[in-house]
Amino acid sequence: MKKILELLSEEMGKAFEAAGYDSALGRVTASNRPDLCEYQCNGAMAGAKQYRKAPIAIANDVAEHLQGSGVFSEVQAVAPGFLNLKISEEYLLKVVNDMAAEPKFGLEPVENPKKIIIDYGGANVAKPLHVGHIRAAVIGESVKRICRYVGHEVIGDVHLGDWGLQMGLVITGLQDRRPDLVYFDDSFQGEYPKEAPFTISELEEIYPAASARSKEDAEYKARAMEATFKLQSGVRGYRALWQHILNVSVADLKKNYGSLNVEFDLWKGESDVHDLIPEMVAYMKEGGYAYISEGALVVDVKEETDTKEIPPCMILKSDGAALYNTTDLATIMERMKLYAPDEIIYVVDKRQELYFEQVFRCARKTKLVKPETELKFLGFGTMNGADGKPFKTRDGGVMRLESLIRETRDEMYKKIREGREMSEEDAMRVAEQVAVSALKYGDLSNQASKDYVFDIDRFTSFEGDTGPYILYTIVRIKSILTKYCEQGEKPENLALQAAANESEKALERKLVEFNTMVQSAAQELAPHKVCAYIYDLANAFNHFYHETKILSEEDAARRRSLIGLLVLTKDVLNACIDLLGFEAPDRM
Ligand code: ARG
Repeated sequence: MKKILELLSEEMGKAFEAAGYDSALGRVTASNRPDLCEYQCNGAMAGAKQYRKAPIAIANDVAEHLQGSGVFSEVQAVAPGFLNLKISEEYLLKVVNDMAAEPKFGLEPVENPKKIIIDYGGANVAKPLHVGHIRAAVIGESVKRICRYVGHEVIGDVHLGDWGLQMGLVITGLQDRRPDLVYFDDSFQGEYPKEAPFTISELEEIYPAASARSKEDAEYKARAMEATFKLQSGVRGYRALWQHILNVSVADLKKNYGSLNVEFDLWKGESDVHDLIPEMVAYMKEGGYAYISEGALVVDVKEETDTKEIPPCMILKSDGAALYNTTDLATIMERMKLYAPDEIIYVVDKRQELYFEQVFRCARKTKLVKPETELKFLGFGTMNGADGKPFKTRDGGVMRLESLIRETRDEMYKKIREGREMSEEDAMRVAEQVAVSALKYGDLSNQASKDYVFDIDRFTSFEGDTGPYILYTIVRIKSILTKYCEQGEKPENLALQAAANESEKALERKLVEFNTMVQSAAQELAPHKVCAYIYDLANAFNHFYHETKILSEEDAARRRSLIGLLVLTKDVLNACIDLLGFEAPDRM
């Protein structure tokens, strides 16, 4: 269905035309002065020159033609030529009813559905997820859900870092601890054990230790590089060990991502394209795109219009080793082959922006993608601590994502147990759900590209622009609906009546913005727009709730209408938090 401003603009356009002006002048926008009006139209000012008339005269003409309009209850021409507008309650009711009757609250599916791959998460195997990974996961998941909701076909890929030096480090670390493992026996011919020779906790110990040592001990680092090389060139025992590392690590990653409601369709990684690299290199050489420079194989990607220096894209190092961007390019090649996406979106730390600029240019220049394939970089800023520096644990270390989730949940648990009668078990479950909302909303309510400060007190507060506040609002509605049923009523035949007061009308006006909001969130890949909307919607609801008696309303038809409005508000809020990737409990 049409968006509210389109509907109003149509009516306004007709009035312009009837008054003898161009209907295109009738564009209605939200009001700049909500104290004076709900919507406004500045078309009279825009038309003044064309019609050689004072804007106010045009505005007066148009206002005249809107007398008795069923759409506007108030049209005021004010100096120097604004049209201040209020929507009529009956017309608004019609829009609300239309919206409630449509599957996605009046959102039109996108005209040209695309196949989109979203590359997000970006976890590295054998390294625990830390706070730096939260944004890639949370933003990517929400963007995926938003794009899907508007009608695109979306494939989410975690794109694991599973092939680099960290694998060699883990293998080397393991070899030192357990040199007797059969994986290190070159003469071994048999089948390797099915069970991994380590647990996730051991794995998580091995990597940081090996990584730290390699920074001080050059010989150790050389061994790790050698191990990486052996793995990549297919030494059996190393491959088998690598598979164990991958399995153990991925099981743990799934658990962690799962606790944030983050789910990937594909668990592919850098290793998946290893065998494609020779083919890609040959193709780039044959096409005359790649050439040798100081021993390395590179593709120039600078363009005449560049204002900053864009270095060439290195495909192979002088020792023939592949790089981070080699795998990214090969991954693009594989994705085009397997999925032929219209668009690939990368949700990655914004510090990798220049890197992706090079990769995208290289992919275009070498025709790994079609000219019309869109490559988008959605770079996010850093999650900082109160000191404005990247978030750290109290003793200055890198905080694990698991710990961050646990701390937030414990904080939530305390708050929930403080004021409420709830069993320990229920409180724990609810705390978990609310904590996810606190973390995700705290993150998503900021524009992705900006840094933000992680403030546990603020994020877990039931008041203000927070996830828990939104959930609290939904729970409040649910509990009214439960009471309504307890009164022996059924939430059926909830025919809405026109808004009876300002707060009810304001709530309805917010509700009907849903389709406009989702469309622009999808176009701009901007989950923060969903947050801003539900914060306004929750405020509008709570305001209405404080001013309106609902369950004690004596007029049964009006009571049903109010309940109908509650149901719609709850449904819209639920649809929105689903786009953000969290859920509301029944009580909290
Ligand atoms: N694993 C990488 C990191 O930790 C992020 C991967 C981002 N995605 C990509 N296609 N390069 O920095």
